[in-house]
Amino acid sequence: MQPSRTQRWRLSLALSCVAAVAVTAVRGVTPAVGAVQEPPTVLHRVTDTSAVSFSRDVAPIIQKNCQLCHSPSGIGPMPLLTYEHARRDGPLIKQMVQSREMPPYQYDTHIGIQDLQHDWRLSEQDIATLVQWVDGGMPEGDPADMPPAPKLPNPAEYRMAAEYGPPDLIIKSAKYTVPASGQDRWWRPSVPSGITTDRCIKAVETKPSIAGRSVTHHANSIFVPASSEREPDAVGGGGPGSVRLSEYALGKIGEVVPADACRIAPAGSNVLFDIHYFPNGTQIVDDQLEIGIWFHGREVTPETHYRQTLSLYALQSGSGDFEIEPHGTLVTQGFHRFNNPVRIDSWQPHGHLRLVAKRLEVLLPNGRRETLSMVSNWNPGWHHSHVYAENAAPLLPAGSVIINTAWYDNTEKNFYNPDPDQWVGVGDRTTDEMSHAWIAVTQLDEAAYQRLLAQRAKK
Ligand code: HEC
Repeated sequence: MQPSRTQRWRLSLALSCVAAVAVTAVRGVTPAVGAVQEPPTVLHRVTDTSAVSFSRDVAPIIQKNCQLCHSPSGIGPMPLLTYEHARRDGPLIKQMVQSREMPPYQYDTHIGIQDLQHDWRLSEQDIATLVQWVDGGMPEGDPADMPPAPKLPNPAEYRMAAEYGPPDLIIKSAKYTVPASGQDRWWRPSVPSGITTDRCIKAVETKPSIAGRSVTHHANSIFVPASSEREPDAVGGGGPGSVRLSEYALGKIGEVVPADACRIAPAGSNVLFDIHYFPNGTQIVDDQLEIGIWFHGREVTPETHYRQTLSLYALQSGSGDFEIEPHGTLVTQGFHRFNNPVRIDSWQPHGHLRLVAKRLEVLLPNGRRETLSMVSNWNPGWHHSHVYAENAAPLLPAGSVIINTAWYDNTEKNFYNPDPDQWVGVGDRTTDEMSHAWIAVTQLDEAAYQRLLAQRAKK
């Protein structure tokens, strides 16, 4: 079957080819989607007020959930600002929301913890409304019903600034010129943080430049003691005395630390970046990405608050190495035991083009096994940190084991697979594979664990 327009899109993004040239080439293609209706050629206004109308029912959903990206300054391929825009792409909108590919937030809806912060998923009700509107012939309704256009954020600004104001501290990576073409590039500069007393981080956002947004595949950052030499292996954690600051990957916005926890920003530190660029056809001169940090008030210190760590759990068993044979599939599973009680605050699965699904489970000391989170429609173009709602973040007793299961598909059935004839091993390149997850964990002791359990029981 010929890939649909959507699938072509997904492939082009997966391969990081989101250059304007790819955009125009792909947008011209007629979708090969069997059941999709063509939009009516004549605009019509429906007088039956019970019908689902654009102005009254659809516009609020699109304003709230889509326009951030589907506007001229956003990263979406086409604007969805007016009735005409929505009507032109109506059948595709129906397809994308029904398959939960848009908004781009891959997280299963019927398994594991459902109560998430910053959750982009549409409700079943909103999906039904959009589908009914398309099936009903996409009536405009009465333009007087249109809600006023929302103020869209400026892409040059921090997204989290809407909630927290401008960042307290901005750290910029050293400049790097990304070539127009060639293999993946890694850039690992170390920059003074300017932090003079230990502070606790409230939120952190990594912001690629506007030009660099489509070529910045991921950017990790850690605090290292300013006195230490530049660490060649920032990926592994930066060596003694270093703490993880943030992890960014294409599509991700930022991280929020729970109010009762301290992710430390140490005094006298440098920030060591680990940036992975993927050239996409346009040279970007002197690219710089920024990390914006919001701090808790000075009354919050590492002594007064639980310590939160953001770590990579390289959770495949054995040596951590694996290979997927040509036209083959593979399941890996790995484990990590917590020796003290913990609260799991967020989960961000990571993988590349052959990964198709990922699951996080916990095996409790009493033998019970529970699924915490699952993504069964992995999309390599989007990486989210799924932050559990305050009252839903799992509180785990000492001795709990988390189980990470990853499913890979190196056959031609996996749409993102660039070459099913290849052996695929573990590695950093986009065409290699990975199986880890980034997990933010608040480290507790027995007393703190009991206190949090008691607090939760009261709510
Ligand atoms: C975070 C940004 C973002 C949000 C929010 C978002 N989109 Fe998208 N959308 C994109 C990007 C980028 C693409 C290009 C393909 C991809 O990345 O998967 C896309 C692709 C699409 C396409 C396919 C376009 C084509 O020509 O192939 C449709 C339809 C679509 N989005 C509709 C929606 C709708 C409807 C919503 C809201 C319910 C929405 N999107 C929310 C970023 C976004």
